[in-house]
Amino acid sequence: MDKNIIEPFKFIFTCQYFELNLLSLQESLARTHGSQCGFCTPGFVMSMYALLRSSQTPPSEEQIEECLAGNLCRCTGYRPILDAFRVFAKTSNDLYTGVSSLSLEEGKSVCPSTGKPCSCNLNSVNDKCMGSDNIYEPTSYSEIDGTKYTEKELIFPPELLLRIPTSLNLTGFGGLMWYRPLTLQHVLDLKAKYDNAKLLVGNTEVGIEMRLKRMPYRVLISVMHVPELNVLDAKDDGIEIGAAVRLSDLMTLLKKVVNERAAHETLSCKAFIEQLKWFAGTQIRNAASVGGNICTASPISDLNPLWMAARAKFQIIDSKGHIRTVLAENFFLPGYRKVDLASGEILLSIFLPWNRTFEFVKEFKQSHRRDDDIAIVNAGFRVHLQEHTENWVVADASLFYGGVAPYSLAATKTKEFLIGKIWDQDLLQNALKVLQKDILLKDNAPGGMIEFRKSLTLSFFFKFFLWVSQQMDSIKEGIPLSHLSAVHSVHRPPITGSQDYEILKRGTSVGSPEVHLSARLQVC
Ligand SMILES: Cc1cc2nc3c(=O)[nH]c(=O)nc-3n(C[C@H](O)[C@H](O)[C@H](O)COP(=O)(O)OP(=O)(O)OC[C@H]3O[C@@H](n4cnc5c(N)ncnc54)[C@H](O)[C@@H]3O)c2cc1C
Ligand code: FES
Repeated sequence: MDKNIIEPFKFIFTCQYFELNLLSLQESLARTHGSQCGFCTPGFVMSMYALLRSSQTPPSEEQIEECLAGNLCRCTGYRPILDAFRVFAKTSNDLYTGVSSLSLEEGKSVCPSTGKPCSCNLNSVNDKCMGSDNIYEPTSYSEIDGTKYTEKELIFPPELLLRIPTSLNLTGFGGLMWYRPLTLQHVLDLKAKYDNAKLLVGNTEVGIEMRLKRMPYRVLISVMHVPELNVLDAKDDGIEIGAAVRLSDLMTLLKKVVNERAAHETLSCKAFIEQLKWFAGTQIRNAASVGGNICTASPISDLNPLWMAARAKFQIIDSKGHIRTVLAENFFLPGYRKVDLASGEILLSIFLPWNRTFEFVKEFKQSHRRDDDIAIVNAGFRVHLQEHTENWVVADASLFYGGVAPYSLAATKTKEFLIGKIWDQDLLQNALKVLQKDILLKDNAPGGMIEFRKSLTLSFFFKFFLWVSQQMDSIKEGIPLSHLSAVHSVHRPPITGSQDYEILKRGTSVGSPEVHLSARLQVC
C-alpha cells in the first residue's frame, strides 16, 4: 500500500484483535454502564487502579470518591461509575449480620448477593441468593466480586524502580533546553547561567502556562531528583520541608506527626491537612510541589495564606550557595505573582514551627464546589492567647486572605486592633468593624461577586472566633450552642443513588439494560 495512505493511520490502535483480559474493575465498569462515549473511561480506570494498588486494605467509599475527584465525565452522571467501583470498598459487616441500624423486618438482613432485604441469611457476596422474596431484579449493582482484583495485578516494572537516574540535558523544538541536574550545585550553576530558567517539579503550573497561555519559556530545569530539595523531616522545633516535596508526601508526614505529637503543637499541621484535602485532586497533589505552589505566588493559592499565618520561614539559596531566611509573611510582595527572590536565587526549603500552647491556627476556603476547585476567597488565621488577670488576652495574631487582592493580603489593621484585647464577644463585634475597612474590594475588582467575597472575609473571622472559643473551655460557655454549629468541618457522606425501572422484555434489547458493544473495549 502507498506509504502516504498508511501514514495518517499509523497511530490508530485498538485492542479488538486481542483477547480481552480485563481486570475486575474494568469488567465492573463495563457491566454497570459506567462508560458511554468512553472518553473519560481510561482515566477513571487508572485512578481506581492506582488507589487499589497503593492501598494495603480495601479503601473506604470516601477514599474511592476522593481518588476520582480529579476525573470528569460528561455522559454518565457518575452514579454508574461509583456503583462499579463501590464493590471494591471496605463495607461494614454489620449490614450483613442483622445488627445494622437499618430497620429490617424480623429474620431479615441485607443480602450480600443482591443488596436487598432478604431472609436467605447468606454470609458472603460469593454465594448465590436463593431467597424467595426477591421481587426486584438488581439493575444497578455490579456482578463483579471486588475481592478478586489482586489476581491479575500488574507490577511496576522493576527495571524502572532500580534504574539510577542520570543527569540529562535535552534540546527541543524552537531552541527549548531541558535539564535534569542531580545535585543542588548543578541547579545553582544552571540558574546562574540562565536567570530566566523555570524550575520544574510537577509542571502543573508551568505546563499550563506554556500550553494554554503560550508562555515562551526556553530553559526548563527539572529539580525532582535533587536530594536537598526533597528533605522532609520532623525536628524538635518543627518540620523542614524541601521545596520539591510533593503535596501528597507532605500530607502523609503531617498526618503522622498529628498522631505522634502533643495536640496543641500540631494545630498548624491540622490546618494544612484540612486545606490540602480540598486542594486540587489526588493526581495533582501527587505531582505538584510545595515550592512550586509558593513560588508561583498565585493570589488564590490555598497554602500561602496558611504559611504566612503559621509563622513559617523560607530558606533561600543563591548561586554562590549563600542561604538566607525570610518569614513567609514577608516573602510575597505587593503585586501580581511577585516574590522576594533575587536573580539566581531559588527556594531551598520551608520550616513550619510547632504551635505554642494557646496558639491557634485555622484554614478557610470557599469555592464554587468542594472537590477540586479553586478558591473564591481563602484565608489562614492565627491567634496566640495568654492569660492575664483571669482573662484571655491576644498576645499575637495574624490574618491573611487569598482571592481579595493580586497577592495574599494581610489584614494588618485588624491584627493591630486584636493585639492586647480580651478574647470575648466585644472583640468579635469590634474586630468585624475594623476588618470591614481593612479588606477593601473595589466594585470592579477582578473576579466579580464583590458582595459575596466581602461577606466571606467577615464570616471566616466569625467562624475563627467561634472555633478558638470552642477550644478554650472557659470562653466556650459564653457562646450560644446554635453558633457552635458553624465551627464543624464540612463532612459529606458517600454519594448514594439508585435507578429502578421495570424491565419489559419484548423479544428485543429495547427496554433492557444491555451493556453496549464498545464498553469492554473502552475500559481497556
Ligand atoms: C488541575 C489543577 C488544580 C489546581 N488546584 C489548585 C488548588 O486547589 N489550590 C491551589 O492553591 N493551587 C491549585 N493548583 C495550582 C497548583 O498549586 C500549582 O500548580 C502547583 O502547586 C505548582 O507545583 P508544581 O511542582 O507543579 O510547579 P511547577 O509547574 O513545576 O513550577 C511552578 C513555578 O514554581 C517555580 N519553582 C518551583 N520550584 C522552585 C524553587 N525551588 N525555587 C524557585 N522557584 C521554583 C518554577 O520556576 C515555576 O515558575 C492547581 C493546578 C491544577 C493544574
Ligand atoms: S465522558 Fe463520556 S463516558 Fe464519561
